[in-house]
Amino acid sequence: MPDYKNDTLEHVSSPGYSAPPRKQGKLKAHFRRFWWLHLIIFIIGFLLVLLLLMFVGIPNIAQNGINDAELELESQVVMDPTPDSVQLAMTTISKSKSSFEPWLDSFEAALFLEGPEPIQPFGYITIPRVKATHRSIIFVNQTLEIKNLRQFEEYNKVVMNSETYRVGIRGRMGLKQGGFPKTNVNFNKIVTSKGLNKLAGFKVLDFNISLSREPDGTNMIGKVSIPNASPITLQMGDVTLDLFVDGTSIGNSTLKDLTLKPGENIAEMRSNTDQAGVITAIMKKYHDGIIPVDIVGRWSVYQGKHLTYYEAALQSNPMRTMLDVGPALAGMGVNISSLVPPKR
Ligand SMILES: *[C@@H]1O[C@H](CO)[C@@H](O)[C@H](O)[C@H]1NC(C)=O
Ligand SMILES: *[C@@H]1O[C@H](CO)[C@@H](O)[C@H](O)[C@H]1NC(C)=O
Ligand SMILES: *[C@@H]1O[C@H](CO)[C@@H](O)[C@H](O)[C@H]1NC(C)=O
Ligand SMILES: *[C@@H]1O[C@H](CO)[C@@H](O)[C@H](O)[C@H]1NC(C)=O
Repeated sequence: MPDYKNDTLEHVSSPGYSAPPRKQGKLKAHFRRFWWLHLIIFIIGFLLVLLLLMFVGIPNIAQNGINDAELELESQVVMDPTPDSVQLAMTTISKSKSSFEPWLDSFEAALFLEGPEPIQPFGYITIPRVKATHRSIIFVNQTLEIKNLRQFEEYNKVVMNSETYRVGIRGRMGLKQGGFPKTNVNFNKIVTSKGLNKLAGFKVLDFNISLSREPDGTNMIGKVSIPNASPITLQMGDVTLDLFVDGTSIGNSTLKDLTLKPGENIAEMRSNTDQAGVITAIMKKYHDGIIPVDIVGRWSVYQGKHLTYYEAALQSNPMRTMLDVGPALAGMGVNISSLVPPKR
């Protein structure tokens, strides 16, 4: 304990001091007397700084670290589609330049297309607990319940028609860095990915025509190549396409049990065609036997149920392929030049 009495006496018994030293002496006396007050003020100040760091500084650093991370879709496998759900297995890579490497709690995230405000999520996924590093892998495999069918249709159209596309992902999660207390941060990100790019490069590789129909009406069987430029696998069930020449229907085709995988997909296309219509088109206009066929997806049916979200995507992407009918007709013993009027 300081000796207040002595201190006071010292001042009294030292006359002739100039003002500043006296003040200094008073200050000293003040500190000696109220040392406990200063200790309390110091502790409160220290605590304030610490609390500010913990509850404002760290959350801000954490939030900035999350905001700076970039998400890229590595692979996405969409199986077992039903009208209101799909099984979604998704691998996303998160890249961050931040030296901050916190643990992120598992959290529920909304998936949505940018544009409408407030956002209209088409579904929710549960992001598992993960440590955010320069390159973290986030793997999700769950049933995705379709919460907004309109938006899920729009999403599938965007995936179908884009070279690259963006999907919003938003949630709020707990974050813990080292010994600091847990803080909550907003996860408000965009995942970028390559899309199906309109299935550009779709082509009929080879096909045969038969005069007699099979029991299901099939009179043309072909092999098609469907390129998938995206990292996405889509189980689409039985896909039915309508075929047109110059706006006139010439039949339909079915790709049975189609699952599009990344890269080139070879599928069997069974068609129900109006052969008289095709022959007429050749005789009237396409004398070389090469006819432009417009293909418009109509149905996507899995286990007897229509998948309107894939149907919307297929319908939004009409494709044209040049079909060389000559070889198929020759295979039936028909010479194309016998169909067209002789040239003058
Ligand atoms: C995802 O989970 C389903 C059902 O449990 C399983 O059949 C499937 O193989 C899993 N997919 C991946 C990519 O792990
Ligand atoms: C067409 O017929 C030929 C000869 O029978 C056969 O080799 C070819 O595989 C058939 N093509 C298709 C797509 O069925
Ligand atoms: C395909 O066309 C045929 C003949 O026009 C028709 O009978 C059949 O129902 C159509 N199939 C589908 C799946 O639309
Ligand atoms: C088709 O007929 C034309 C003229 O009639 C003939 O020159 C040509 O060789 C025939 N082509 C085939 C594949 O038989």
